[in-house]
Amino acid sequence: SPSLKSLAESKGIYFGGEITQDLLSNSTATSLAGSQFDMITPGNEMKWDTTEPSQGNFNFGPGDAIVNFAQANGMKVRGHNLVWYSQLPSWVSNLPSGQVQSAMENHITTEATHYKGEVYSWDVVNEPFNDDGSYRGDAFYNAMGSGYIADALRTAHAADPGAKLYINDYNIEGENAKSNALYSLVQQLKSQGVPIDGVGFESHFIVGQLPTDLQANMARFTALGVNVAVTELDDRMPTPPSTGNLTQQATDDAYVVQACLATNGCVGVSQWAVGDADSWVPGFFSGYGAATLFDSNYQPKPSFNAVVNAL
Ligand code: XIL
Repeated sequence: SPSLKSLAESKGIYFGGEITQDLLSNSTATSLAGSQFDMITPGNEMKWDTTEPSQGNFNFGPGDAIVNFAQANGMKVRGHNLVWYSQLPSWVSNLPSGQVQSAMENHITTEATHYKGEVYSWDVVNEPFNDDGSYRGDAFYNAMGSGYIADALRTAHAADPGAKLYINDYNIEGENAKSNALYSLVQQLKSQGVPIDGVGFESHFIVGQLPTDLQANMARFTALGVNVAVTELDDRMPTPPSTGNLTQQATDDAYVVQACLATNGCVGVSQWAVGDADSWVPGFFSGYGAATLFDSNYQPKPSFNAVVNAL
């Protein structure tokens, strides 16, 4: 039977998923991931609260476990992430503003050096914008202004020149105030020679509510000379799932893959889970779930078949 990864590779893209360390002991999930995905993103294991829980004390054990799993299965790794307002230990947000830049640079340098040569890409800055297109007023912005983004990218590039460097965000999949702001930022970074290689479209969707200009929006970013990737695809619905919603989800997910295939410079699609059983959606969006290509028993859903056909 076909695999997502082999079909994706035949079209010059990848198909990935997200996994967490606790799931590595679930052989149903790991064998499915190993057979279907050629790219893996650690769900939490490379985030700041895990990797530097107190200042200067680094813990790469959980991230290393994901990298080892990936390498044993011939997968590449999307490093996720270096700088983010969330899952950020309070010691960072409590720093005097004059100490934030050096703490950020040290964090990036130490983590990106540890994983040098082992990650395909880094989400260097995650979710820097508000939905209205203004910058999120987090510890980094408050201390350094918007220049923290260029500084983070330059610092990551110095540590691992071979990694593709991304800005990753949600609600930027269609053309809107937030994606316009990101577009302007990428344009500015490129004109200043800042190392920016890609934009991650998280793509946390609701069934039947996908932006109709996804492909056009991908194309305007790639026209700036950066790659795009669908980094955290899920398409949630009220649970228990109805047949109608599962059919709509299949249409939605095939449309996302089609948009990527039709865009030179879209490098791949990753869903944010192995399957519905381990998805973050039920825990974060009350009453919703069934958001991935595989059901609560890791069996293929209509979406899986639709994506296979799209590939
Ligand atoms: C989520 C994880 O899946 C959860 O386990 C965690 O509790 C919260 O974060 N955008 C991102 C991801 O970039 O890092 C988030 O992952 C989902 C939203």
